Amino acid sequence: MTHILPEKGISKQEIFAQLKQKQQQDFDWRTGRIFCSVYLAGKEIEEIAKEAYSMFLTENPVDPTLFPSLRDMETEVVAMCSEVLQGGENAVGTLTTGGTESILLAVKTAKNRAKALNPTQTEFELIIPYSIHSAFFKACDYFEVTPIVIPLRPDFKADAKAAENAISKNTILIAASAPSYVFGIVDPIKEIGVIALNNNLLFHIDACIGGVVLGFNRLAGLENVPEFDFSVPGVTSISMDLHKYGYTAKGCSVLMHKDKTYRKHQYYACSEWTGYTLVNPTILSTKTGGPIAAAWAVMNFLGKEGYCDISRKTMNTTHRFIEGINAIDGLQVVGNPEVSLFSFTTTKGNPYDLFDELNEKRWFVQFQLSNEYCPANLHLTVSKIHETLVDEFLIDLKACHEKVQKKGLVKKATEKVTIETVKKLAQNLSSENFEKLGKMLGFSNGAVPDKLALINRIMDVLPPDTVRNTLIDYMNDFYTVNEKR
Ligand SMILES: Cc1ncc(COP(=O)(O)O)c(C=O)c1O
Repeated sequence: MTHILPEKGISKQEIFAQLKQKQQQDFDWRTGRIFCSVYLAGKEIEEIAKEAYSMFLTENPVDPTLFPSLRDMETEVVAMCSEVLQGGENAVGTLTTGGTESILLAVKTAKNRAKALNPTQTEFELIIPYSIHSAFFKACDYFEVTPIVIPLRPDFKADAKAAENAISKNTILIAASAPSYVFGIVDPIKEIGVIALNNNLLFHIDACIGGVVLGFNRLAGLENVPEFDFSVPGVTSISMDLHKYGYTAKGCSVLMHKDKTYRKHQYYACSEWTGYTLVNPTILSTKTGGPIAAAWAVMNFLGKEGYCDISRKTMNTTHRFIEGINAIDGLQVVGNPEVSLFSFTTTKGNPYDLFDELNEKRWFVQFQLSNEYCPANLHLTVSKIHETLVDEFLIDLKACHEKVQKKGLVKKATEKVTIETVKKLAQNLSSENFEKLGKMLGFSNGAVPDKLALINRIMDVLPPDTVRNTLIDYMNDFYTVNEKR
């Protein structure tokens, strides 16, 4: 076994030299040539978030009596979010570490409330649209709730009637997106709200990615902003991530409830053990106070005016991207996106090849596998920084698209063999075949292949279970110290 913990500590200077060196491997996100994972609104905001985060790095919200500063900042941030979401006098909330944690807690809240109201209930169901974020499936997996997936209408919005038909005695919650990550399209919140009210059900809005933009679009007086918040009758909880379009530090989302009677079911207290008194509003116990302070600082720095200005500009940038992409022969934006994120498909050439070509030009968009409603596509999450990059991106996109079309037929012929082989291997998944399959996909020794088009195309034709297992195997390898990487 190789030893990696140094016998004697390394100097501070050397440590930071090494950290800088490690950072060289990463995507240079400061250029803005990336359309996922980071949200940029300029250096000043980044610095404010960083400084505030560092100030409260060591403070720990696990005990708010020790750190009243964190409790104060959290309640103020939550109150600001409540204003954005029209929560009125009674809405309450909690800061979590991200969208996933907010969603996990929304589902846990619904299950605990159902159990409190009906202690004999043993089956729990959650109604979700086809386009909802994977975090809901994760919540179902963690908390033993059955997901009941409803279809979409031709405009990619959830079919409200199908939601109504899916209600059973086991239903604990209906959820919908504002907007869905996949398409950037808002579900019919008002329609589903009526159904939730009529059936006395909880209704959660996943506004993780778009809540801040939609909220400030409304406050900025933009036209045709879809209604999605507590002003819609029937909505009982909303998740909204501040570490996305709130432009604060990572590790910050808010889970809002219509009032305290709902939030109560989110909390966990333990009296069974012999240690310190434990009552947690969130899943984690000990954590850093950094994200709370960063959110407080950035929100106060930007204020309503700052966010409205960013929102207006980002929507304008998004419309320029959408018009430019639709103007390229063979590319088509999916549906009518209503926030600052969207996906587009290719009617000519393959989107995965296009992804690789764009990558070669140092643009990072996100690929999405095909689904029941839409072929494989590429996804863009637009933020403030993209304002100055629209023209350059569109020129490169057009050039890459033309290149892919020229190369397309040759590639297809050579890859057909591989895809057929992979499909055969997948039919008989012995551990040996599984390893072979992983290797063919380029998933060996945790290595990341240079080109992802073939892998994506193959994943698209494999059964979901095989894809899931392959991804888990890959990740299991990836997080090991590996000299070859
Ligand atoms: C609509 C939506 N919900 C939930 C999440 C999960 O958020 P997180 O990655 O912060 O856990 C995302 C992430 O992009 C999202 O877009």
